[in-house]
Amino acid sequence: MSDSLLHIENLRVAFRHGGRNAVAVHGASLDVGAGEVVGLVGESGSGKSLTCRSVIRMLPPEGAMSANQIVFDGHDVLAMDRAALRAHRARSVGMIFQDPFSCLDPTKRVGEQIAETLRVNAGLDRAAAKSQALTLLEDVGIASPDRRYLSYPHELSGGMRQRVMIAIAVATKPKLLIADEATTALDVTTQAQILSLIQRLRREIGMSVLLVSHDFGVIAQVCDRVAVMYGGYVVEFGPVEDICTRPQHPYTRALLDSIPSLESAGQRVRRAGIPGQPPSLGEVTTGCPFVDRCTYASDPCRTMEMVMLEVGRGHTSACPVTIGNRS
Ligand SMILES: Nc1ncnc2c1ncn2[C@@H]1O[C@H](COP(=O)(O)OP(=O)(O)OP(=O)(O)O)[C@@H](O)[C@H]1O
Ligand SMILES: [Mg+2]
Repeated sequence: MSDSLLHIENLRVAFRHGGRNAVAVHGASLDVGAGEVVGLVGESGSGKSLTCRSVIRMLPPEGAMSANQIVFDGHDVLAMDRAALRAHRARSVGMIFQDPFSCLDPTKRVGEQIAETLRVNAGLDRAAAKSQALTLLEDVGIASPDRRYLSYPHELSGGMRQRVMIAIAVATKPKLLIADEATTALDVTTQAQILSLIQRLRREIGMSVLLVSHDFGVIAQVCDRVAVMYGGYVVEFGPVEDICTRPQHPYTRALLDSIPSLESAGQRVRRAGIPGQPPSLGEVTTGCPFVDRCTYASDPCRTMEMVMLEVGRGHTSACPVTIGNRS
């Protein structure tokens, strides 16, 4: 097992909602090793983006965050002052946000946006930044970089915009790349290209990746380990192969069952999703948050404490009911 690069312990994020504190992330813990790709998977609203944003302490201003620890490369992120935090965001962690439009400036040429990152965050002069930006455009697989350097974001396809976002995120050769739903809006072919680009850059730069997706198929393809989130909790965490072949938490099982599969007739079909709805923000629940949708649920599940239990080597699950049950 590689050395730990990122360690998040007992992360909690809450919002003021209807005059009360609504908890969006409930004590999530996870770690990412040096050079490792860790996935975060779960339905919409499960707390994936908030968990990612906690790594750079960039939460919505109305959110309140606390944690026992957030340690990055030996540094205590929670104790960083403004200058240390600025450097951490600018150089150590590259982030691809969920909506590329919200991060690219529509009024600036994309090449200049990459060059600006290099000038501001890596201290390059104007000429060096331009030449490095052109190299980065080529590195992320954009044809005719000289011409594309001059394009505005709206002149690019979704896949190309995402490549530009990746170029900006890896410009300073960060130790960690956080890719929040980086491929969700793209067609299957472009999605595969972007995933292999992330894997190539990971090898070349030697960076770790925290990859967010609601699609287990994507996670299974590229991750070493995966944390499964549900209702603001990490409910299962472990090696991706182990989790795909012997998922322990009923929610993980249900998610895996909803992956599109190839039918014998050769037609791609989407199986029925998981019946029911996840708890909504601010809904006060006790016990396991999945209880109302769970086929294994019994009365104790309504009052149990959510504790991660060892179910295999480096593999933990929050469900005591399914331990030892391999179905
Ligand atoms: N600024 C905010 N104000 C109030 N609630 C918020 C805010 N940002 C997020 N939340 C709530 O926190 C919960 C977790 O949000 P988060 O964005 O982390 O989910 P997610 O797993 O990334 O979902 P998605 O797959 O849709 O991106 C959701 O219920 C969301 O509504
Ligand atoms: Mg999100």
